[in-house]
Amino acid sequence: PPLNRIMSLSDMEDVARKVLSHKAEAYYSSAADDHITVTENARAFSRFFFHPRVMRPVAKCDASTTILGFKASIPVFASGAALAKLGHPLGEANISRGAKTTGIIQMVSSNASMSYEEIIRAVPPSQPLFFQLYKHANDAEAEKRVREVERLGYKAIFLTVDAVVPGNREKDVKSPWVVEDLERGYPKVYVEGAEEEGDVWGTAGALIAHDDRDMTWEKTVPWLRRLTKLPIAIKGIQCVEDAVLAAEAGVDAILLSNHGGRQLEYSLPPIEVLYRLRKQRPDVFDKLEVYIDGGVKRGTDVLKALCLGARAVGLGRPFLYAQSAYGEAGVVKIVQILEREIISGMRGLGAASIKDLKPEMVERVDWEPL
Ligand code: FNR
Repeated sequence: PPLNRIMSLSDMEDVARKVLSHKAEAYYSSAADDHITVTENARAFSRFFFHPRVMRPVAKCDASTTILGFKASIPVFASGAALAKLGHPLGEANISRGAKTTGIIQMVSSNASMSYEEIIRAVPPSQPLFFQLYKHANDAEAEKRVREVERLGYKAIFLTVDAVVPGNREKDVKSPWVVEDLERGYPKVYVEGAEEEGDVWGTAGALIAHDDRDMTWEKTVPWLRRLTKLPIAIKGIQCVEDAVLAAEAGVDAILLSNHGGRQLEYSLPPIEVLYRLRKQRPDVFDKLEVYIDGGVKRGTDVLKALCLGARAVGLGRPFLYAQSAYGEAGVVKIVQILEREIISGMRGLGAASIKDLKPEMVERVDWEPL
């Protein structure tokens, strides 16, 4: 369908699922075990209802913010997701360029299907890019990667900590790689000898076969801090206790995330973790920036997270789907949709700017919505 027929992120997903190869669809959409967490990530937003305020001036309404000091036209970023070329020949660069056009920030995956250099060269130097780090078990190897992206001009490091094992994604494991997929964007690590783990564990197993399973707050954060001047965010915090430890470790930000339900099944939905953090440890929000990702599909989802104190919200699959369906134009389109939904949601809530979004504006209901 023509792009102007795409009204929502789920319309976009429907188109993508039709154009993706069998393997790409399986890899992008798959999640752990019985897909409980991936489903609840999205559904959990429906337990939060608004207390909209009226008679407040909202003719002028501004949804812009900053993330780690970098401007964002809306409080949304692209979460690092691997292998964009599986869905479209221009891959990750579709997201970088679409992000540039719309004024948002992209976090580039360690397992991108293009080189980190090609991706950053796809946009002017004024366009900030963040880097998602999978830490190699060998510190020296990991150090090389961090130094490379810092040299290339990436602006922050998001260390992923929720993938010490590959999640059990049966849909992905069952779906074989065919030659066309291999040509499109097969993980180079496979060639480096992870075939066996790949066969058992699917794509993720191959991609993270060499990563560090012994990371700790005491060792890994200071290691990274010594290595780089870039802001450090921890991606994959799944409970209040670890959010507090991250704040104590002195990192700049945390991303409450369960990897889009692809890792540990029955990890709580991030909006629920955010709600608990706001209730139990509101002090944490003064020490670092808090983001969430997982299951975000609507402007109202973003606004609920912002009311509860999130600085910004990440999306993974929606960006992969959008670039698969329409390339860069698809990426631009979903950001425009989110922007329209966010602005109209803010007006409905009586919020003329991001700072007007307050915890009192959302309530977690104890009845079961439809
Ligand atoms: C991911 N995610 C991910 N995370 C990460 O830290 N490094 C990675 O390489 C990837 N790769 C990846 C591939 C695919 C296909 C998906 C769907 C996800 C997780 C991602 O950053 C993010 O946490 C989730 O995608 C958020 O959930 P939604 O928005 O997809 O529901």
